[in-house]
Amino acid sequence: MNKEIIKELKSEIKTLFDEVIDMKKLNEVKAEYLGKNGKITELSKQMKDVVNEEKKEFGLLINELRELFNEKYEEYSKNLSDAALNKKMASEKIDVTLPAQKIPVGAPNILEHIIEEVEEVFMSMGYDVVDGPEIEEDKYNFELLNIPKGHPARDAQDTFYIEDEKILLRSQTSPVQARTMLSSGGDKPIRMICPGKTYRRDADDATHSHQFMQIEGLLVDKNISLSDLKGTFDVIAKKLFGENCITRFRPSYYQFTEPSVETDISCFICKGKGCSLCKNTGWITVSGAGMVHPNVLKNCGYDPKVWTGFAFGFGAERLAMLKYGINDIRTFYQTDLRESETFDRREVE
Ligand code: DAH
Repeated sequence: MNKEIIKELKSEIKTLFDEVIDMKKLNEVKAEYLGKNGKITELSKQMKDVVNEEKKEFGLLINELRELFNEKYEEYSKNLSDAALNKKMASEKIDVTLPAQKIPVGAPNILEHIIEEVEEVFMSMGYDVVDGPEIEEDKYNFELLNIPKGHPARDAQDTFYIEDEKILLRSQTSPVQARTMLSSGGDKPIRMICPGKTYRRDADDATHSHQFMQIEGLLVDKNISLSDLKGTFDVIAKKLFGENCITRFRPSYYQFTEPSVETDISCFICKGKGCSLCKNTGWITVSGAGMVHPNVLKNCGYDPKVWTGFAFGFGAERLAMLKYGINDIRTFYQTDLRESETFDRREVE
């Protein structure tokens, strides 16, 4: 047994790792000592030549050597990986004092916003917000509303037909009036509004769109008169356009109301003096309305001798255009994000 070699190896191992600067070198050292032909491995192979009495001592010494090597190896391996981690962390350090990057947040769609505003005012007056189908039957869109087949009033509301004279894309939200009355059974008062999409076969221009939104309203009860409609319209106009807003009715014609009116508000730009928005009239038309026609009440199961009511229909885009100074209805449907970004979240909250 060559104790000298073992001693030499021992002191070699003690300083061996001082030159190890990276994992590559560390692994090379490992191979040099513990690899197949490594120095320690070679030494172990000599066991067979050692005389029996010395075998035990030789074994112990080799183990000691191995342990020493492994200890050093573990220590340096840990140091190297710690150093690598520290380096990585230093390079990826986050400076928490830097200003945060802005995450773009969307703004609520301006039509939705107007509709919510109108809904809130009506709900505070006890109205329900109801929904109706966009694919509608001719019966609800026209017939029950006192517009029989072949009636010239249909021309102005030409729409898209899914089944000729039967199924169509609704041209107005008024069919929801008929649906609500029919489902109420003819013996209960009704207070409802219905905002929703509507369609017409119109060529798109600054004031027309093949798709647009209306907000329908219906009140049915006993002893309802035009003055109730006027009072209701007054409240909504003041809420939407300010406390100084004055309202007026002008005679009009709709098949499902009698009498029918156009509802105007005083121009909020020129305060009634006359400007380009109100075309020098001092007034702006915002909805159609009237007292529910006795035929419509009857068609929908309400006895017109007992029940009376009023109805109205706002164009949602028109309200938004007036309120936010938008001068082209196509703005709402051309998905140009710059337009919706104009309506910052904070402004509409
Ligand atoms: N539906 C009508 C239109 O599209 C608007 C309207 C007018 C609705 C008078 C009503 C109403 O409920 O009473 O032109």
